[in-house]
Amino acid sequence: MNIATHPRPASASRARPQLDEKAFERISAIALADAGLDIAPSKMAMVHTRLARRLRALGLPDYEAYCALIESPEGREERREMISSLTTNVSHFFREDHHFERLVQEVLPGLRQKIETGQRVRIWSAGCSNGQEPYTIAMSISENYDLPQGADLRILATDIDPKVIAFARRGAYDERMVSGVAPALLEKYFTRRQTATGGSWIVSQKLKRLISFRELNLLQPWPMQGKFDVIFCRNVVIYFNEKTQQKLWKNFARILHPGGWLFLGHSERVSEQYLDLLSPAGMTTYRRSENPGAL
Ligand SMILES: C[S@@+](CC[C@H](N)C(=O)[O-])C[C@H]1O[C@@H](n2cnc3c(N)ncnc32)[C@H](O)[C@@H]1O
Repeated sequence: MNIATHPRPASASRARPQLDEKAFERISAIALADAGLDIAPSKMAMVHTRLARRLRALGLPDYEAYCALIESPEGREERREMISSLTTNVSHFFREDHHFERLVQEVLPGLRQKIETGQRVRIWSAGCSNGQEPYTIAMSISENYDLPQGADLRILATDIDPKVIAFARRGAYDERMVSGVAPALLEKYFTRRQTATGGSWIVSQKLKRLISFRELNLLQPWPMQGKFDVIFCRNVVIYFNEKTQQKLWKNFARILHPGGWLFLGHSERVSEQYLDLLSPAGMTTYRRSENPGAL
């Protein structure tokens, strides 16, 4: 039979589900409530592209059925999948590297006494995606400091998306992902493994030992007990609205030691009214005030 006259299989002739404004609003309301993601209507096409895969995987005919699922108690797991699909996980090693220079040249020297006397030193990579940020922090420290035996320095790396946390914990990166790592550091802190699909670079135990990876939604209560000396929360709050950002500034200030450091992404800024808690200290860098009255 001629291909042109062959009847198309039912699945192929079925119209692709369309995302209309109403469904978009229902989806974006859940993304805002669950993860703080503030998705502008101009991102409707992006939402459609990312969620079309979920509809196919679930065998759902349209967005009406998808919204009914995520709004129901049975849809809890799918809400997590949806958030995972909607978040942007782009990251790379030594991204905005001036922060790592600052860490080495100014932050760590200030913490030297604490490190050498075995006091607790904690660094948090909040919204760590696939792990490039915390591994870069660990590399910057290892490269410049011989941590003495008994040093209690640890990096907590968290993200809302369990998939990126699992990836980060494995710490296996392909050639493209390690392109920002200098060859000498690659040699020193990674092991190359040949795979069926090419090469992969595995992060050394020396770096992995410094980091704990955990799933954590920044909008939900934080289970951490102690305070932090340094927080990297870069290219995360840009997806949140002003109200959510303000809540975070206050919480970051609360969980930082006086004088502690906060590093943000290149287009992120602490809101004006929180600058008494988090004082500007250079490019997208802030320090927790010594005496913040408002906390
Ligand atoms: C663009 S990546 C930033 C990665 C890294 N910090 C950097 O600058 O390269 C943003 C990350 O924030 C995470 N994220 C988004 N909303 C979050 C939330 N409510 N709680 C925790 N992490 C969140 C995403 O899953 C994503 O991995």
